[in-house]
Amino acid sequence: MDKFVIRGGEPLLGTVRVSGAKNAALPCMAAALLTDQPVILENIPQVRDIQTTRNLLTAMGAEVELGYGRAQHRTTIHCENLATPEASYELVKTMRASTLVLGPLVARCGRARVSLPGGCAIGARPIDLHIKGLEQLGAKITQEHGYIEARADRLKGAEIAFDKITVTGTEDLLMAATLAEGETVLENCAREPEVADLADLLNKMGAKIGGAGTPTIRVKGVSKLKGAKHRIIPDRIEAGTFVIAAAMTGGDLNIAGCNPAHLGAIISKLHEVGVKTRTNGDSVRVMGDNPFTAADLSTEEYPGFPTDCQAQFMALATQAEGTSVITENIFENRFMHALELVRMGANIKIEGRRAVVRGKTPLSAAAVLASDLRASASLVLAALVADGETIIDRVYHIDRGYEHIEEKLKGVGAQIRRIGEMFPKKAAAVKG
Ligand code: EPZ
Repeated sequence: MDKFVIRGGEPLLGTVRVSGAKNAALPCMAAALLTDQPVILENIPQVRDIQTTRNLLTAMGAEVELGYGRAQHRTTIHCENLATPEASYELVKTMRASTLVLGPLVARCGRARVSLPGGCAIGARPIDLHIKGLEQLGAKITQEHGYIEARADRLKGAEIAFDKITVTGTEDLLMAATLAEGETVLENCAREPEVADLADLLNKMGAKIGGAGTPTIRVKGVSKLKGAKHRIIPDRIEAGTFVIAAAMTGGDLNIAGCNPAHLGAIISKLHEVGVKTRTNGDSVRVMGDNPFTAADLSTEEYPGFPTDCQAQFMALATQAEGTSVITENIFENRFMHALELVRMGANIKIEGRRAVVRGKTPLSAAAVLASDLRASASLVLAALVADGETIIDRVYHIDRGYEHIEEKLKGVGAQIRRIGEMFPKKAAAVKG
């Protein structure tokens, strides 16, 4: 298992470029299941979850080209013949976003067999709302041996109101509704930019979607969708991670190739703690040269402060003067990083969904363990300001959602190196 070795104390200086959004690329790749023509996606991040999605689609019979050459981070997905509309437990257990194939498969093939995702480090993460919505569209759903079987000759448009705001639930049903008979109205939808990006692709494919990015989305079903070419939006969570890293290390960092409009809640929270930023076109400059003060944080659905940056903000809060109360409203177990931060010297008390962080506490290097994607990012940020050399184990978590993070950080002055091989080479053939 790969590890990161990080020596703290260096401010991040210079320019770092943001990759394409993992959480937009995943539903857009699943959307290719809806047509028998090729779908070309550009600005695809080179992260493990994309590889996993590629494996998922090829296992169904799709042809997936994935190239990360200099000029392109591009994938071409051609789902002409889908032999087995299934998502196996082996794949779904490594990436619960695999459930995004459920809606498209039922809509395109009339049937789907998808493993239930099972547990996850940050919470139970059920998919009951995905299932309930598909049933409202007329799918017959059974559950056995840990799998969901969904069938429908043709889905029928319906009025669906989500009991809770769910990002992939909105995306799953939005995709299913594009090929349903008649109109579908989705209420209480997620408003994340990744939902709007998916709708952009679907409309390029011939879907008739209005209102994506707002709580109410209307879809007029069509009989067929065609291929399309689409560029994935920048990753706002990667951008937010670098914005917070720049503030923490007292650096002067330009985060380029992002969409500042997607970073509103993060940037206003940094202003609240006293960090200066400047926005210019598709980049945000963070001048972290002054001490910053504590602030409370409450994670909310978009456009509120994203839960996917909560762990990173907690790392920053350990370096802020004063007490920050962090409330995690989206997931029930998303404080795993807190225990590792405490081992580095942070003063954090967990009380249910609230974490009380008392700063500023100097952090000292330690051997720590990554538990999930964003918790790993939080440990990297803490290591960047810790005294000494921190070793972070199980960085495969971070490879799921951050493209070449050690190269990007090294490029702006961080002392970071990876031990082990990201993609282990095949064992050398045993000499006869
Ligand atoms: C998406 O997960 C993201 N993943 C997550 O990012 C992100 O943390 C999350 O949205 C919240 O913003 C992708 O987009 C691939 P939800 P998702 O359905 O869709 C409950 C990362 O770090 N819920 O919006 O799975 C659920 O338990 C990942 O990149 C139900 O109860 O999250 C949670 O409490 C981590 N029933 C809340 O809703 C359902 O059927 C929000 O979950 C669905 C969800």
